[in-house]
Amino acid sequence: MSEALLPPIGMLAELTHRCPLQCPYCSNPTELMKANRELDTETWLYLFRQAADLGVLQVHLSGGEPTLRRDLEQLIAGLSSHGVYTNLITAGVGIAEGRIEAFAEAGLDHVQLSFQGAHAETTERIGNHRGGHQKKLETARRVRAAGLPLTINAPIHRHNIGEVPDFIELALSLGAERLEIANVQYSGWALVNRDALMPDRDAVERQMEIVGQAQERLRGILNIDFVTPDYFAIYPKPCMGGWARDAFMVAPDGTVLPCHAAHTIRSLTFERFGDRSLAEIWTDSPAFNAFRGTDWMQEPCRGCERREIDWGGCRCQAMAIAGDPAATDPACVKSPVHARMGMLIDDALASARAEKAAGNPPEESFIYRRIAATTQLA
Ligand code: SF4
Ligand code: FES
Repeated sequence: MSEALLPPIGMLAELTHRCPLQCPYCSNPTELMKANRELDTETWLYLFRQAADLGVLQVHLSGGEPTLRRDLEQLIAGLSSHGVYTNLITAGVGIAEGRIEAFAEAGLDHVQLSFQGAHAETTERIGNHRGGHQKKLETARRVRAAGLPLTINAPIHRHNIGEVPDFIELALSLGAERLEIANVQYSGWALVNRDALMPDRDAVERQMEIVGQAQERLRGILNIDFVTPDYFAIYPKPCMGGWARDAFMVAPDGTVLPCHAAHTIRSLTFERFGDRSLAEIWTDSPAFNAFRGTDWMQEPCRGCERREIDWGGCRCQAMAIAGDPAATDPACVKSPVHARMGMLIDDALASARAEKAAGNPPEESFIYRRIAATTQLA
């Protein structure tokens, strides 16, 4: 390993895979866990204490839909008692009256609310949930009324990329302090739905122009974060800030992973909290050490001047596209298989044209995220 091992700063806690929405771009694994595999309240609280002792400063409470956990107030209070910053990542539908205030009371610091579209029709079609948009608008209002800062998260793909200007207006109208225009990362359900979700090149270029101009125009009013679309990139993102470098995630059953798609690297074994402590897993787990730092790198990463900027990109994308988790991320122009990204875009667009010519509505090509579909895909 080329640098000293530091304690983790961030943790993503996937409290549950249950969710009232069925977004085809979901980053959850296609093998969704049922409720009976979730950690109980006591175990999460114990895990949070260890995380805080280990150095974790911020925890993102996610899912699935984390508000489906009836003990969420207790979990937030537990984190808050250790001085940990808490961010709730929610789809914002079906949150009972009084709960957002209770989350704030328990010490919640921030809410990140996703919108599948800037308009009701898009939100409902992508999330496959009637009335979803209206419920989200109401959740945003309640979050602000409870005095909590709000980020709007807009996962972008072919079916809503044209709504980027409207997402900006939506975030402003809801009093958000931050908008995340997040081009979909093709892992989990999004990988299964890649052909149905891939935008075309012109739309991606237009989007980048619009976002760039809005970032200038709204400086000091609305922070706009832009998650670039890997398939259209020249260099990859430093996925998770580098493998097991300063953050990790915990699945609903307590499996501790360096990132949300790590389970797709079948050559690695991931350990569960309870079998070992978080500190042991963070320091000693062979899976965490597999791609730490730069020693594992092959050429062209090994000799590249960007190796400590992007840490070779995404291991899971290297696995999915190059078939080797130690390969250079194919999003990188220096990767020997970079051209595959372009071919995958062309294949997706050809399949979209064929669907359109056949007169099929776009959602007919979606495999919606749900447990029943998990069984079909297995
Ligand atoms: Fe990053 Fe590797 Fe590409 Fe260099 S060769 S830019 S380190 S992914
Ligand atoms: Fe696993 Fe990028 S999603 S390293």
